[in-house]
Amino acid sequence: MAPAQNRNRAPKVSVLFLFLTYCSLQHSSSSAQSSPVFACDVVSNPSLASLGFCNTSLGIDLRVGDLVKRLTLQEKITFLVDSAGSVSRLGIPKYEWWSEALHGVSYVGPGTHFSNVVPGATSFPQVILTAASFNASLFQAIGKVVSTEARAMYNVGLAGLTFWSPNINIFRDPRWGRGQETPGEDPLLASKYATGYVKGLQQTDGGSPNRLKVAACCKHYTAYDLDNWKGTDRYHFNAMVTKQDLDDTFQPPFKSCVIDGNVASVMCSYNQVNGKPTCADPDLLAGVIRGQWKLNGYIVSDCDSVDVLYNSQHYTKTPEEAAAKSILAGLDLNCGSFLGKHTEAAVKAGLVNESAIDNAISNNFATLMRLGFFDGHPSKQPYGQLGPKDVCTQANQDLALDAARQGIVLLKNTAGSLPLSPTAIKNLAVIGPNANVTKTMIGNYEGTPCKYTTPLQGLAAVVATTYQAGCSNVQCGTAQVDDAKKAAASADATVLVMGADQSIEAEGRDRLDLLLPGQQQLLITEVAKVAKGPVILIIMSGGGFDVSFAKNDPKIKSILWVGYPGQAGGAAIADVCFGRYNPSGRLPMTWYPQSYVEKVPMTNMNMRPDASNGYPGRTYRFYTGETVYAFGDGLSYSTMNHELVRAPKIVAIPLEEGHVCYSSNCKSVDAVEQSCQNLNLDIHLRVKNNASISGGHTIFLFSTPPSVHKSPQKHLLAFEKVFLKGQEEALVSFKVDACKDLSVVDELGNRKLALGDHLLHVGNLKHSLTIRI
Ligand SMILES: *[C@@H]1O[C@H](CO)[C@@H](O)[C@H](O)[C@H]1NC(C)=O
Ligand SMILES: *[C@@H]1O[C@H](CO)[C@@H](O)[C@H](O)[C@H]1NC(C)=O
Ligand SMILES: *[C@@H]1O[C@H](CO)[C@@H](O)[C@H](O)[C@H]1NC(C)=O
Ligand SMILES: *[C@@H]1O[C@H](CO)[C@@H](O)[C@H](O)[C@H]1NC(C)=O
Ligand SMILES: *[C@@H]1O[C@H](CO)[C@@H](O)[C@H](O)[C@H]1NC(C)=O
Repeated sequence: MAPAQNRNRAPKVSVLFLFLTYCSLQHSSSSAQSSPVFACDVVSNPSLASLGFCNTSLGIDLRVGDLVKRLTLQEKITFLVDSAGSVSRLGIPKYEWWSEALHGVSYVGPGTHFSNVVPGATSFPQVILTAASFNASLFQAIGKVVSTEARAMYNVGLAGLTFWSPNINIFRDPRWGRGQETPGEDPLLASKYATGYVKGLQQTDGGSPNRLKVAACCKHYTAYDLDNWKGTDRYHFNAMVTKQDLDDTFQPPFKSCVIDGNVASVMCSYNQVNGKPTCADPDLLAGVIRGQWKLNGYIVSDCDSVDVLYNSQHYTKTPEEAAAKSILAGLDLNCGSFLGKHTEAAVKAGLVNESAIDNAISNNFATLMRLGFFDGHPSKQPYGQLGPKDVCTQANQDLALDAARQGIVLLKNTAGSLPLSPTAIKNLAVIGPNANVTKTMIGNYEGTPCKYTTPLQGLAAVVATTYQAGCSNVQCGTAQVDDAKKAAASADATVLVMGADQSIEAEGRDRLDLLLPGQQQLLITEVAKVAKGPVILIIMSGGGFDVSFAKNDPKIKSILWVGYPGQAGGAAIADVCFGRYNPSGRLPMTWYPQSYVEKVPMTNMNMRPDASNGYPGRTYRFYTGETVYAFGDGLSYSTMNHELVRAPKIVAIPLEEGHVCYSSNCKSVDAVEQSCQNLNLDIHLRVKNNASISGGHTIFLFSTPPSVHKSPQKHLLAFEKVFLKGQEEALVSFKVDACKDLSVVDELGNRKLALGDHLLHVGNLKHSLTIRI
């Protein structure tokens, strides 16, 4: 999405108009702000009660059918765009579909606003840091709080019901400016994140599956992970993706989002995949999302992908053809105005039938029905009692703090450094362009937070501090080294808060290198040389940096990555630094050296290495080269020990008689056949916290499959986070479905279970599991 365009929309109200209507505006703006938008207001207009689509005792399909048949073609077309039409004779008001809630209710998108009624909402850490918690229940807990605040804002007319979040694209290349919005590079983690967050937002599990608290949207479908790199932008990029990479890397989070999360919407992206714009590809939309995955909801375009495929990509000769092709491909809603302008002509030209329009708007209306939009005033519906008192509650803000603490990753820690002693440290030097920031902490797709605690405020609440920005901003054109050195030379410990912000990595802005911007490295190194006490380097960023200089510098005792930690980021940083919280986050993405981006073009979508041209491959699953920090890295103040209690050594696949693999030497079998189902394996581990301090710990179960079908060198099968008191131990068991979890995607996109030895690993433990027939 291009939020900048939309943000410019609001202020374009003429001064004259404001002046002339001052009195009525005063009145109407307060009432407009306090009442939600909804259809079928039978209290004000009793005649609406007899309309079938307003009748809540009828099923959704009947109600939708009744509504559609009452509309003219021109009216129908107004329901194909985000700023939807109104039909006053039927009691249908205008509805704005575009709201956002990536990590808290956001003001990006015209559907949601803050006002003096609700001045802010809880701002959770940017998603990449929440993902680093590897705590699936946290993903859902955050979603639940966000939807409570969203629904509360809807009830007072400040928000919509349809939120275009989460962003679950795979963080394929470290330079991607939107990597911060995603749950990282691993398909399993991204799938778990998608499912958890969507369930939290939609809350369909508790009551009826046909009742949505708010509607979530998984985006951007698919293989979208390049914004603007060396002259290639997302509006023109044609992602060339192999069938194998598509099915085992890019699609899994979307598949889980639809099938396991029951999401109400999927958004197609700007880019093309193998020569076709995703929003006009019938195989990807009607075929996969609706056909195979059975989406119960609507497919929406990015803003405005349909315009982009016509005007930027010249995919069709006429705008009518672009409208027809996207609707026929399965697009239901256009963020933007293109379909509103060109669909009628497309129908008149016979390029698309009215029945296809009916189909699209039916999907849109059905979603609104599930949200209660056609059920009259929301106060009498579920969630109808939520209001401003439910936004920014102490409990919600505490969860934002806890999420930041759970995500923060300790990457380096030399004995005698962290945790700092709050009594022994009399004076702490706090240095760096991100040490006293507010907005930087909430990343993009942000809202107005309830309040901020900056890193400096968080640390200063514990000990006396001396603050030096060191650079005027993160670009750090010229570092002010001398004052920073002076502060560090006389302090008992030094914390440097460095890294990035949206001027370095953002939507529409990919990085060119992985080095800390400007003179940040110089500042850090010079300060470390003269510091009296331990030096703690904190990197605030979405993407990883090549910080090998700091990793290898003995004067820099500790390194923390804090993502963009949200409104309570500074308090979380202080809790970790002073040992009030034992860090347990793990990197959800590989931190590559600078040399990686010098040899790998961002436009190369291939996940797998290619020996013929030296291409090194991508992510921990395929890249075997040197890393600065690896996927899953993260230390704590405890030592956690693992012990294997029980795991099967051999699993036999019962193939049917006469199967070809009995007579020939098969390397793998189909993982979807009748014989390969419900082969559940139990793996039991004992985990012990061998320290006196309590803490969280994520157990990662990886597998290295036999090397056939260019399979990954290792892949994550499952993860589980436990909390252990000092010296406490726990049993953790994983249920592995051999056919589903141990299988790999072959070159043609089919799931295969490799025969032979699969090496399972948990920490340093290794266990060989033989799959045979
Ligand atoms: C709503 O539909 C039910 C079931 O068909 C019907 O019995 C009832 O009369 C309808 N209500 C109104 C107000 O038309
Ligand atoms: C995971 O998050 C949930 C929800 O916030 C929390 O209650 C739980 O303690 C967390 N688990 C661990 C191991 O930290
Ligand atoms: C429109 O409907 C007619 C009659 O069902 C059908 O023959 C024709 O192929 C349809 N056209 C398009 C573009 O779908
Ligand atoms: C930190 O930043 C705020 C503005 O966000 C400013 O008011 C305050 O003075 C700064 N603190 C210090 C110690 O400079
Ligand atoms: C547990 O901690 C004790 C005391 O620090 C140490 O001697 C022992 O080696 C540790 N055990 C393991 C398995 O790490």
